Amino acid sequence: MAIKVSGERLFTLQTKDSSYQMYADEKDVLLHTYYGRRIDGENLAELIVRGDVGFSGNPPQAQGDRSYSLDCLPQELPSSGVGDYREDCIRLRHADGSTAADFRFESYEVLPGSYRIPGMPALYDNEKEKGETLVISMREAASSIVVRLYYGVFEEENVITRAVRVENRGKEPVYLDKCLSCCLDYSFGELELMTFVGRHAMERTVERNPVGHTKLEIGSIRGASSHQYNPAAILCSPGTTEDWGDCWGMCLVYSGNFIFSAQQDQRGLIRAVMGIHPTQFCFCLKEGEAFDAPQVILSHSGQGLARLSHQYHRILREHMCRGKYRDVKRPVLINNWEATYFDFDQEKLLAIAEKAAGLGIEMLVLDDGWFGKRNDDNSGLGDWFVNEKKLGGSLQQLGEKIHQMGMKFGLWFEPEMISEDSDLYREHPDWAFQIPGRQPNRSRNQLVLDMSRQEVREYLLERMTNILSKAPIDYVKWDMNRSVCDIYSHGGYSAGEVYHRHILGVYDLLERLLERFPHLLLEGCSGGGGRFDAAMLYYSPQIWCSDNTDAVNRLSIQYGTSFFYPVSAVGSHVSAVPNHQTGRSVPFRTRGHVALAGSFGYELDLNRVTQEEQEQVKEQIAQFHEYYELTHTGSYYRLSEPAGRLCAWAFVDERKDRALVTLVMTSAEGNPAPVHLKVKGLDPDRQYRCSLSGAVRSGRTWMNGGLTLPWTPGEYESLLILFEGMEVR
Ligand code: GLA
Repeated sequence: MAIKVSGERLFTLQTKDSSYQMYADEKDVLLHTYYGRRIDGENLAELIVRGDVGFSGNPPQAQGDRSYSLDCLPQELPSSGVGDYREDCIRLRHADGSTAADFRFESYEVLPGSYRIPGMPALYDNEKEKGETLVISMREAASSIVVRLYYGVFEEENVITRAVRVENRGKEPVYLDKCLSCCLDYSFGELELMTFVGRHAMERTVERNPVGHTKLEIGSIRGASSHQYNPAAILCSPGTTEDWGDCWGMCLVYSGNFIFSAQQDQRGLIRAVMGIHPTQFCFCLKEGEAFDAPQVILSHSGQGLARLSHQYHRILREHMCRGKYRDVKRPVLINNWEATYFDFDQEKLLAIAEKAAGLGIEMLVLDDGWFGKRNDDNSGLGDWFVNEKKLGGSLQQLGEKIHQMGMKFGLWFEPEMISEDSDLYREHPDWAFQIPGRQPNRSRNQLVLDMSRQEVREYLLERMTNILSKAPIDYVKWDMNRSVCDIYSHGGYSAGEVYHRHILGVYDLLERLLERFPHLLLEGCSGGGGRFDAAMLYYSPQIWCSDNTDAVNRLSIQYGTSFFYPVSAVGSHVSAVPNHQTGRSVPFRTRGHVALAGSFGYELDLNRVTQEEQEQVKEQIAQFHEYYELTHTGSYYRLSEPAGRLCAWAFVDERKDRALVTLVMTSAEGNPAPVHLKVKGLDPDRQYRCSLSGAVRSGRTWMNGGLTLPWTPGEYESLLILFEGMEVR
């Protein structure tokens, strides 16, 4: 059993290598006592030393004990207005305007299997491992609000999840002004915070800051998880490296507005919270109604960041991604976007497809511009009717021609958006978010459809179903190309509910589409990686990582992405040079090596590359197949940071039979120092042959002694080095 309950009040969640503990004290406050390396379930509440702290008051149950204050205790559910002045998770507003939320332990139950959240993604049980669930009910002292805290345990994976459900069991309506999903209080020690921040075309750069008394906060109020701040964070002991130190991950399973903050309190406790952003959030819970907050995936590693990443990669790959393509090899694709942009016709597409098919590419993806009036990005969104004139025939005919070449066929959609210059907008202007009496903000000259409305979703489902059932389509790139604002629903929901209901609407449409087309491969996208989050992986096992296809910039984007998200989730393509985003020219081979660390494809017209590069395409595709198991299900090791003069990473398969090291030089120097590398993840006792020199040494020697390259590669040059394990005798 991964969930141990002692004395009906002490809850210890055990994973293979970590423990999480809570204790409902004599006043029924649910204390957080521990999260970290595995312990043996003794009550660690005794580590909490209380004191009479000035200006930190005492709840009535303290009965004169001036040392008992909610303002100083580590808690599972800090709430508003009852004397904890730190960050709260639940904020209520009662009918009389008061905001007190005084939650006390009421009961618990332990359930087999992992829990589901209505209308939202969550980790699920697979054939190999089932989770266990602990549900703790907390009752509000003076109202009829009950909070149910859900804890899921995946023992083997070293993962613990948390989610929150707020129920109104009374008659009076109550406003929920804030409802975060998770609070982690660290009573002792210093911590650093790693966040993944950026912008369009430069997502998920790693930032690391010490956590002090000044609050560190990230979040999004853009209606999407965003390019700017990824909904995932790592807290770690100072000095933690890839291989050493304690680190804790928090990863939100949500694609809408979110907040994460970490701050040290007056006595040194560090509180980290995560959940839906409280800005423009307010749900009115009437009698019998409930609100579900999204899941947070927690994981701890006592052996550094690489281990933490492996734990996230595995759980997301095996318990979040679903459908056929969770396990089936992803097709090597060619996307026409950077090859043609909007300027294509059937002839051009077939020429790209024909060349690609001859070189071993397995799928053509037709990007933006095939529907409605859409020859640039100013019109047509919402009019999901095939532009047969532009395509010189039906989509079915085009799809069949592609299939006849032995390739699959994929299609781009941007379902959540509407152009003002579209028939859909002319017919239903109220389907777009805009506030009566105000001009809406435009972004890429488009508006956002109100996905909280059933009729909007029905329209989109009908249109997409029509297109996907008429033409032979194997893949959909689901795009979303602007931030949301001007929140006002003509569908009747109050503004405080719309951001969340909008995202629930997106999930609903995705779910229903996949129910109808279970074999479809979805690739998520939002101007590249603007919605690269765990929740989207529930629907699309791969996500276009960034609109930036420059192989050198990609080193840092893919490096930052790798802390939480598996390589199989990373859409990564070889594109033309000079690169369309940066103007940089990087050798074809290097572009291939970088794209191999992802779900692989091309984004250029192969009729316009040299014969030699075409040969390299064949070689790259052969490598993709040869190393698929390593790159897509193996363990991923960051061997360096991306900012130095070289960037290197490695994949090691589960049996430790093979390791593939990739190295890219990011700059050149005169009289260069030699390049030395240490491999990771090998079996120390096994002999491995290095493809570079042919030398055979033990895994221990390769990992500790490493190898020095006999020459220094030039700027932007790259290498793949394979370490093959010799037969074990
Ligand atoms: C976004 C995507 C691109 C491409 C364009 C099409 O920017 O990220 O890959 O699909 O939209 O308009």
